[in-house]
Amino acid sequence: MKQICVLGAGYVGLVTSACFADLGNNITCIDIDENKIETLNRGESPIFEPGLSEMMQRNIRAGRLHFTTSYAEGLKDAEFVFVAVGTPSGADGEAELKYVRMAAEGIAKAMQHPLIIINKSTVPVGTGDWVADIITKRQDHPIPFWVVSNPEFLREGSAIYDFMNPDRVVLGSLHPEAAEKVASLHRPLRTTIQITDLRTAEMIKYASNAFLATRISFINEIATICEELGADVKEVAIGMGHDKRIGPHFLDAGLGFGGSCFPKDVRALEHMALIHGAHPQLLRAVLDINKHQRRQAIVKLRAMLNGLRDRKIGMLGLAFKPNTDDMREAPSVDIARQLMREGALVQAYDPVAMAEAARELPDVRLVENAYEVAEGVDALMVITEWNEFRQLSMKRIKESMAGDVLIDGRNIYDPDRMARLGFRYAGVGRGPQHSNGG
Ligand code: UGA
Repeated sequence: MKQICVLGAGYVGLVTSACFADLGNNITCIDIDENKIETLNRGESPIFEPGLSEMMQRNIRAGRLHFTTSYAEGLKDAEFVFVAVGTPSGADGEAELKYVRMAAEGIAKAMQHPLIIINKSTVPVGTGDWVADIITKRQDHPIPFWVVSNPEFLREGSAIYDFMNPDRVVLGSLHPEAAEKVASLHRPLRTTIQITDLRTAEMIKYASNAFLATRISFINEIATICEELGADVKEVAIGMGHDKRIGPHFLDAGLGFGGSCFPKDVRALEHMALIHGAHPQLLRAVLDINKHQRRQAIVKLRAMLNGLRDRKIGMLGLAFKPNTDDMREAPSVDIARQLMREGALVQAYDPVAMAEAARELPDVRLVENAYEVAEGVDALMVITEWNEFRQLSMKRIKESMAGDVLIDGRNIYDPDRMARLGFRYAGVGRGPQHSNGG
């Protein structure tokens, strides 16, 4: 059993705390938000993540998981400190490091014995060195410490599974012995552990997210071309994915990527490149195509309805992807706001993001279920591909709508079947012969 402190009770911090506790370690998780710590100490998770509450409760009961606002308490017996604080996008795309700075200062003031400080937050390349510098300057008296970068690759919605079954663990440090100790914490996960230097580890995270975002924008660009040429991007992606060099994942064309990571990280990498004199034209194109996908859905709808004023539109799904209530940078937000700006009335349903939606989109009428979304609408849009939308009675949906337009922003329905049911169907990247029942 190792003594571990985790700084930050956000997504990554909570999952890291719960999973390391479940692996038998003793965890104290620190957050500056007192309300959050109270909620957590009652065993309640402030975020929706499958399996997280159960895992937290189990480990709180076993006495392996504690929450506090006090650095002194959190660091008292710790050998390892994981920093998992937020790094939101600043003004020009630059990652905002104020929480990382606060964490470094807090550690410097409270530490009483040597510590291995492991950064999990996605931070600009060079931040590890900067953190080491802050701690050295802020310590009252010199106590040894070692900084390790350990980028996180888990996805919202499958975070527990991803943590426990990683494709790899990346550790970067100027001190191989420290990295080796952190590696030993991860050995129970039985995966490849890559040990490299600090800056390279930081870069691996950005490069990975940017590459995945690039795959999505790539397939979305192919989708746009497919629409013009009468090909079906879903089949194209399957055909491409069989090539082992390409692989089948992250080739779903749709409304593009959202969430708290891809948009922010691609912007941050672009910014890093720019200020160091590089010319990140591919990254710029990735972001540009991503914006285009959202706009394009509205262009299609406007054309199919002959304008949007006073049209009633139903939206299925609001979260940025299924299995989360997160609406950060979600396509639903841009699309709903634009529709309303053009005079449309919007009603919507999401299986878990309703509370979030009420805050983000106060002018959208939120209804109880998918069938209610369809009632009396001129057009229905699939925004998030929740599984429960795949099994709807589309006949019933069609009958309750006033109009016949179906914009399938995630390609979850069969175009020919939808045409047979009487919908005017538009998916993403499914050319005309796939939208007229032919
Ligand atoms: C992403 C990465 O996948 C994680 O490895 C990483 O740890 C995380 O960011 C992070 O940096 O913290 P996440 O944002 O939770 O995870 O979600 P993903 O499942 O990767 O999806 C991101 C977006 O891409 C979603 O909006 C999704 O709808 C979209 N997407 C994904 C597509 O449009 N097409 C696809 O084929 C796949």
